[in-house]
Amino acid sequence: MSQCPFHLQPSTPTSPKSVADEGDPTAELAFLEEVYPAGVELKRRARLEAAIAADQAAPLTSKELIWAGRIAWRNHARCIARLHWKSLIVRDHRGLETPEAIAASLREHLILAQGDGAVRSYLTVFAPAERAGGPAPRIWNSQLCGYAGYLGTGGTILGDPANTPFTDLALQLGWQRPKNPTAFDLLPWIISGRDGQPRLFPLPQGLVREVPIHHPDHSWFEALGLRWYAVPVITQMRFRAAGTDYPAAPFNGWYMGTEIGSRNLGDTHRYNLLPLIADRLGLDRRRSRSLWQDRALLELNHAVLHSYAAAGVKMVDHHTASEEFIKFRDQEASRGRAISARWDWIVPPMSASATRVFHTPMSEFATTPDFHHQPAPAFSR
Ligand code: ARG
Repeated sequence: MSQCPFHLQPSTPTSPKSVADEGDPTAELAFLEEVYPAGVELKRRARLEAAIAADQAAPLTSKELIWAGRIAWRNHARCIARLHWKSLIVRDHRGLETPEAIAASLREHLILAQGDGAVRSYLTVFAPAERAGGPAPRIWNSQLCGYAGYLGTGGTILGDPANTPFTDLALQLGWQRPKNPTAFDLLPWIISGRDGQPRLFPLPQGLVREVPIHHPDHSWFEALGLRWYAVPVITQMRFRAAGTDYPAAPFNGWYMGTEIGSRNLGDTHRYNLLPLIADRLGLDRRRSRSLWQDRALLELNHAVLHSYAAAGVKMVDHHTASEEFIKFRDQEASRGRAISARWDWIVPPMSASATRVFHTPMSEFATTPDFHHQPAPAFSR
C-alpha cells in the first residue's frame, strides 16, 4: 500500500466528532471535549444545548471561546500553518457592536498582532448574528490592510486590482484619496453595526507596518518602489462555533513569502510584475521556454523573504511551512484525528513539487468550529 516514502496516506475521519453538521448540536458542541474533563463537559453541553434549542447565541464563557477559536484554526482546511493552532490569542469582544467601538478594537488588534515584528496570531470576536434576524456587525474590508486599486481611463488600474470595487465604495462614502495616488495607498476601513449602514474609518498615520522590498543582489530592485504590509488580518470570514455565527471575527497569522512574492505581486490579475522584473533581469520574454516567468518569480520571492527578514518582520518560507504542515498532520494523526485539508490551497504556488505537501493526498470534510466564507455586505443608497 505504501508508495514512495513521501507519499503519506490520509487517514479517514476516526470519529464523527470531526465531521460537522451545521445545526446539529451534538457536532456543534463536540469541541467542549477539548476544553473539559468528561463529567464537566456533559454538564456544560446540556446547558448550551438548551440555549441553542431556545434559538439563542450559545453563552460560551471566554475560556470556551478561546478554545473554539483555536480549534477553528486547527480545523481550517485551507491553512498550511496549523501546527501553531494552540498559540492563537483570542480577544472576547462579543459585547462590541457599534462601528466606533469595533474600529477602536481593530486598531488594537493590529497593533498587538504586528508587535515589534514578531507577529502573533490573534482572533477578535465581535457581537454574534442574532438568530431572530437583523444584520450583525460587519467589517467590509477583506483584510484590515490593503492597497487601493484606482480604475483609470481605458481600463488601466493603479494599485491592487483586487481592491477596485472596495476602493470605489470607499470613495463613494467620502474617502479622500491622496493628492498623488500611488500603487500602494492604504485603504480606510468600512464597518457597519446592527443597522447595516456602512461607516468610513480613515486609518491613523503610522498604524500599519509596511516592508519596503529590496533584493540582496540587485540594487535596481529597490527603485521599483515595491512594498507590502507586515500582517494579513482576514476580516470577511464568518466564525462559527457552538451553533452561533460571528460574521465579524477578524483573525491573523503571519505571511508565507509566496503569498506576496508569487501571488499578490506576481499574478497577472494582481500587480503583474513578472514582465517588468524579467526585463530588468535581461531575460528573453519572447519565448516561454527561456523560463523568464519562473526566473522572475524566483528573484521576486527571494526579495520578499530577504526584505521581511531585514525588517525584522516574521515571515515563513514555503519549504518550512510545508514541513510544519506535515508535522501538524502527523501530530493530529497520533491523537486519532484526521485532518480536513484542501490540496489546492495547501500546496505553495511556487516550486510545488519540491515541497512534501505536493506529494501528500488530502481530503476536505466539514468541521466545526471553523471559519467560512460569507457574502460581502451590499451597499445600497
Ligand atoms: N493570501 C492573503 C494575502 O496575501 C492572506 C491570507 C492569509 N494568510 C496568512 N498567512 N494567514 O494577503
